[in-house]
Amino acid sequence: MILVNEVAVGIFNVSGAFFAIDDACPHAGASLSHGIVEGEVVRCRIHHWRFCIRDGIYIDEMKPSCNVRTYPIRVVGDQVQIELDHTSWLNCNLRQAPKQP
Ligand code: FES
Repeated sequence: MILVNEVAVGIFNVSGAFFAIDDACPHAGASLSHGIVEGEVVRCRIHHWRFCIRDGIYIDEMKPSCNVRTYPIRVVGDQVQIELDHTSWLNCNLRQAPKQP
């Protein structure tokens, strides 16, 4: 998880492709970047809700209100950049991301 403009964003690398989603689980706020990744799915460590890393969809039920937001992400040289506000790209220093427990 990284903070970008005070927004907690989880960044995932799925077979070399980067994806960015809201880090806070919509159920009770646990960090999804500390969840268990199974292919293109992340499972929250607390109550095991599952989300598609590609599109943020909560996959255990058809419940769109439980989807997590996704963010456009790109790699430019050795930088990973996220677009938070549809107007600018922000660099994310992944080397400063906290280690997984
Ligand atoms: S906090 Fe994520 S499933 Fe409950």
